[in-house]
Amino acid sequence: MTRHFLALHDYTKGELDSMLALAADLKMKQKSGIPHRLLDGKTVALIFEKASTRTRVSFEVGVFQLGGHGLFMPSGSSQMGRGEPIKDSARVMSRYCDGVMIRTFGQEIVDEFAKYSTVPVINGLTDLFHPCQIMADLQTVIEHKGGYAGLKFAWIGDGNNMANTWIEAAAIFGFELRLACPNGYEPDQKVMAWAEAKAPGLISLTNDPQVAVAGADVINTDVWASMGQEAEQKEREKAFVGYCLDDALLSLAHPDCIVLHCLPAHRGEEISDSVIEGKNSVVWDEAENRLHIQKAIMATLICCKCGDAVSYRG
Ligand code: CP
Ligand code: NVA
Repeated sequence: MTRHFLALHDYTKGELDSMLALAADLKMKQKSGIPHRLLDGKTVALIFEKASTRTRVSFEVGVFQLGGHGLFMPSGSSQMGRGEPIKDSARVMSRYCDGVMIRTFGQEIVDEFAKYSTVPVINGLTDLFHPCQIMADLQTVIEHKGGYAGLKFAWIGDGNNMANTWIEAAAIFGFELRLACPNGYEPDQKVMAWAEAKAPGLISLTNDPQVAVAGADVINTDVWASMGQEAEQKEREKAFVGYCLDDALLSLAHPDCIVLHCLPAHRGEEISDSVIEGKNSVVWDEAENRLHIQKAIMATLICCKCGDAVSYRG
């Protein structure tokens, strides 16, 4: 059975923990110069229908470090960008490649691609989810806090793809998550309902950022207008007044809390320069971990030589 990585809810805690452990091992190997060519001779297509720095570079470098080839495909230069049906593209790409990563708009696009693909498909961000990013974030939390169990997580800002994926993560991994979002910018209702049914009482939603960050161990924020919402920027700036993660807000959290931001950041909007550059910020480690966790995800889905990390594969 081909397994895809489209959303965290398709995986158990044990499976995701295995990927996090493999990511730590691959990070150690890469830093120690120990070869880990788990995708030797494999090709992974990287389809982008939205802009990217981290996702493009970390996937391309990651496939290379695993001994494979990353094939960068901006949608504007492929027939997909000219309207070739997703299902036709998926069946054709599957004949050439060993895996496909897609960054696009609707979650239904990656779902459709995966339905017709005979090779693993990885979600590199949709309007609904950003699962690779949250896995990198969790790797960063584990590195800085020794684990995630028992920690208080806070989300400040838009109820967007990042927030939705954090909600799934909280329900699967079993940690407390308090989200502060302005009225009208709440997370996806179906995602919230799924999480509440899976892990009753762990996830709460407020309009008050101070309530969300009080005593938090991990604070996460993101841009107020995501890719595709640029026309709403001015309107969103008004709605998000009071949602800047600045020193005053940070002072309410646990003194040793860590601050995450998936980047790119808009200093002075969702986060102040002093906080992103400050002692609690771990955003550069977080960005680096995209490389290591995505190598683990690709190795788990595509490679046949990864031992326990792939034991759940059909
Ligand atoms: N965080 C993230 O996905 O960054 P890019 O948009 O640069 O890929
Ligand atoms: N929420 C942001 C994340 C960027 C990595 C967006 O979708 O644009």
